[in-house]
Amino acid sequence: MTRKILVTSALPYANGSIHLGHLVEYIQTDIWVRFQKMQGHTVHYVCADDTHGTPIMLRAEKEGITPEALIEKVHVEHSQDFSDFLVQFDNYYSTNSEENRQLSGNIYRALKANGKIANKTIEQYFDPVKSMFLPDRFIKGECPKCHSKDQYGDNCEVCGTTYSPTELINPYSAVSGATPVRKETEHYFFKLSECVDFLRDWTRSGTLQAEAANKMNEWLGEAGENKLSDWDISRDAPYFGFEIPDAPGKYFYVWLDAPIGYMASFKNLCGKADLNFDEYWKKDSTTELYHFIGKDILYFHALFWPATLEYSGHRTPTQVFAHGFLTVNGEKMSKSRGTFITARSYLDHVKNPEYLRYYYAAKLNGSMEDIDLNLEDFVARVNSDLVGKYINIASRTAGFIAKKFDNKIIPAQHTVIDDMRAAAPAIAEAFTARDFARALREVMKLTDAANAYVAEAAPWVVAKDESKSLELHAICSNALEMFRILTIYLKPVLPNIATAVEAFFDVEPLQWADAAFGLGSQTIQPYSHMVTRLEGKQIEAMVAANKENLQATEAAPVVKAEAKVESKPAEEGVYISIDDFAKVDLRIAKIVSAEHVEGAEKLLKLMLDIGEAQPRQIFAGIKSAYDPATLVGRLTVMVANLAPRKMKFGMSEGMVLAASDERGGPYILSPDSGAQPGMRVK
Ligand code: 2FM
Ligand code: ZN
Repeated sequence: MTRKILVTSALPYANGSIHLGHLVEYIQTDIWVRFQKMQGHTVHYVCADDTHGTPIMLRAEKEGITPEALIEKVHVEHSQDFSDFLVQFDNYYSTNSEENRQLSGNIYRALKANGKIANKTIEQYFDPVKSMFLPDRFIKGECPKCHSKDQYGDNCEVCGTTYSPTELINPYSAVSGATPVRKETEHYFFKLSECVDFLRDWTRSGTLQAEAANKMNEWLGEAGENKLSDWDISRDAPYFGFEIPDAPGKYFYVWLDAPIGYMASFKNLCGKADLNFDEYWKKDSTTELYHFIGKDILYFHALFWPATLEYSGHRTPTQVFAHGFLTVNGEKMSKSRGTFITARSYLDHVKNPEYLRYYYAAKLNGSMEDIDLNLEDFVARVNSDLVGKYINIASRTAGFIAKKFDNKIIPAQHTVIDDMRAAAPAIAEAFTARDFARALREVMKLTDAANAYVAEAAPWVVAKDESKSLELHAICSNALEMFRILTIYLKPVLPNIATAVEAFFDVEPLQWADAAFGLGSQTIQPYSHMVTRLEGKQIEAMVAANKENLQATEAAPVVKAEAKVESKPAEEGVYISIDDFAKVDLRIAKIVSAEHVEGAEKLLKLMLDIGEAQPRQIFAGIKSAYDPATLVGRLTVMVANLAPRKMKFGMSEGMVLAASDERGGPYILSPDSGAQPGMRVK
């Protein structure tokens, strides 16, 4: 029976690059989708950028562009990254779409009509300088437990304690540096606490992995108990998102409209592909709906999302598949170790996306365990399995078909081939269960058998005896049939190689069912090599590049005027692009005031006019060289888009440029006459 299946991966935020951690999920989902498509099912795989919320709004502001321009730019990057990793969405859309606005509004109205929305007045931290309510992540201060400074409003990265922002000592806004004040505001809540019975039933109906179902039971509490609190779904302006219908100045919290983005992406696809939206989303839908997610967002997908769907008159997910995190060399990805690897830097250095697809597949088993990318093992495994074993079958036999048999193969027959055909259901079962590791173990066993066959039949020996031409023809045709079957089983993981193999055999795109029957006598194309060995030095270069990137981006904030930095003129070949340079927003600044800072040995406090409503406050390490009184009224140059830094004496909102080395300094810069405060230096 043809099944109709809708599949999603989590929507990546539109303010960061795709990295190898993200790719665990997209590659996993893509493999599963490709496998299901090869079975002949109707499958739609949709995704989108997750575009709303405070971080994206502030990031755009910092870059001096509109949120729309930021998400557009990121959409282009993300789409390219996914396509280069052969992640083949049927639609890759954006949550900032008209479809999503309408669907979110309709769902909200339906929830309200069902009595599931409540209004409550709450008290929240408010930034009086920025005039905005602050999400927990944008409030910083001293940890109430271990007294580490500059900790986030929800948890301390030093001692690991979680708390509410009200418990922070000396809180400050990470946006403006101002001390936040408590302020009342009306918020809209989804009455999740009333959904506990439904969620208990939904959890029990086989929708979750065992580990996830256990987590759910923890969140829901024992039968008769109710641990759920209502969910705050609104945020106050200024906010980048959808305004709530009939609630001016109130916006949907990003996590309300993000999963609805799955629907919206599908709705957009319906318009392009002539599909029936309601067939997939109405309450009694007979289609299947699967969400692939990371274990960190289970709460949203197993509580909020099914309840939102249920009480707005929609179907609920068939299953939610959660996976673990990626570690690299057994540790959390680390910028300083160079293991925080972006999709783009992998492509730049390693190039072939199928190596990573293969390695991830070999590690993924359908559980919520973390998976490790061990870089040495990665090289060894890819070379051994893909090049040494799988491709080797064709590369050792295809040449004879070309040279001796005019590119013609004959029907194949051998017990190893019979075994390969017989393995199809077990391999399919492993793919279905998302136990790709098991699927690949089975495939590799068969690959070993094929290699043993070739080694024993030794076509290179047989080829020397003209009278054994028939035997040689049979050996090589058999080996190539083995190669063809293995290619079918590997196709969900290695789609590009499969395409090359299809061209080699001159056949239509291979389907799963094609493993059951061999080819007849037919002409094939000349063989050309399909995968090259992965070299350890490619990995070394990638790791080094990620470390260098870090130095380039993180060195900037610490190069203060007084810092001793090695200052060699650029070495040959070490250039940045004009785009890199353009990221630094240099401005002509007028020093409005300059003063000593009590208790600071090296710093002067400067107020700088760069044509904004308020002058910027900056602490510059130039006290040793300047009398503050001589600075007032001077023009100089500052970096205007450095993230504000909380210093011991207050916020520093930029950096003044100054020259120095062992010969002296610091010397601040002066523009030629005519330059005006706020002019861009470029
Ligand atoms: O955690 C995240 O990265 C979110 N952007 C995932 C959203 S998934 C879906 F619900 F939209
Ligand atoms: Zn602490």
